Amino acid sequence: MTVVIRFQPENEPAIFENALEFAARQLRALIQRDPDFYPLYTVQGRWNHGGEAWTHWCDGFLPGMFWILYGRAPQSSAESRWWREQAIRYSRPLEPRKLDRNVHDLGFIFTSTYHRWFGFTQDPSLKEVLIQAGRTMSLRFQEPGAYLRSFVSADSLFIDIMMNVGIIFYAARETGDPRLLDVAMRHSLTSRRVLVRGDGSTAHEGIFDVQTGEFLRQATHQGYRGDSCWTRGLAWALYGFGTCYAYTRDARFLQTAEACADFYIRNTPADGIPPWDFDAPPESRSLLDTSAAAITASGLFQLAELSADAVKGDFYEQTARHILRTLCQKHLAQDDPAWEGILKGGVYHLHKNLGVNESVMWGEYFFLEALERALAGGR
Ligand code: GLY
Repeated sequence: MTVVIRFQPENEPAIFENALEFAARQLRALIQRDPDFYPLYTVQGRWNHGGEAWTHWCDGFLPGMFWILYGRAPQSSAESRWWREQAIRYSRPLEPRKLDRNVHDLGFIFTSTYHRWFGFTQDPSLKEVLIQAGRTMSLRFQEPGAYLRSFVSADSLFIDIMMNVGIIFYAARETGDPRLLDVAMRHSLTSRRVLVRGDGSTAHEGIFDVQTGEFLRQATHQGYRGDSCWTRGLAWALYGFGTCYAYTRDARFLQTAEACADFYIRNTPADGIPPWDFDAPPESRSLLDTSAAAITASGLFQLAELSADAVKGDFYEQTARHILRTLCQKHLAQDDPAWEGILKGGVYHLHKNLGVNESVMWGEYFFLEALERALAGGR
């Protein structure tokens, strides 16, 4: 991104409010059209029913958006009561997932739902759900190698898990259990060592020898190649290492989050929206991933708050706002009445041809989260 516009246009709040209003309309329509359905990605703009999911990781994002809209609605209004009702209705069925050992995504599922819910109520029974989810996540720990295994196999570590290790840090802080803290710290340090490169780029996956714990090689599932930088993986790292620093105040994690942010900024076109993989070959180079942009915007707002250097913090915040303005002005589905999603141009899994150039549920969620942060003042 060679040009970053370092001022906020006067109409920025209106641009962001308009996007949130559009999002609310799309979500209301989804609830009315398909009650109790948790979509993952669209096919030509229509939410896909029953297609391949690859892994079951996204159910928290829809109720997460309802919690955001509840938080923004005027207090005690009919609108706020309605969003709260929907948020609870779609969050509650997720509770059994606190014991789910088949996915590495319990942070995604519970941070967007029960953590937000707990923030509104301080109900200790909600905190218990979060703690259990953190304990369950910690069971993925592979002592040889010192990492939380991905859903794929015991020898596999994903960069995405940096977005989920936060729930273990949370459980460690709330219970004082040193084993949980140890697991979360060691996983994060291993990810930093084997998945983040010297230039701030990231690998999607690391492969280990499960007997000895030796790190063998970088690999990928959703990126172009093992040695490429899959853009969404970089966005997860930027945001995830920032969260890690927020919990630990260990300067190594802040340095890593900033290195990832700087890589994104250096390698993204001027409007702030990156290609799906920073090393994509010519035939797919023009394919963007707006979901990675939305995650990055939200992660940059967090980093702006955490950064020790005020000038850097300001730069991250202005970059986040710039990315968000582009998403609102160029990628909203507002002009396409048949489109059921909010944000066009996300990519789920190019090699499996799942959700390519479509709306994707995590893109919608982190877009709303970034708008929420921007309208709350940014940091
Ligand atoms: N599996 C997480 C992602 O697609 O980013």
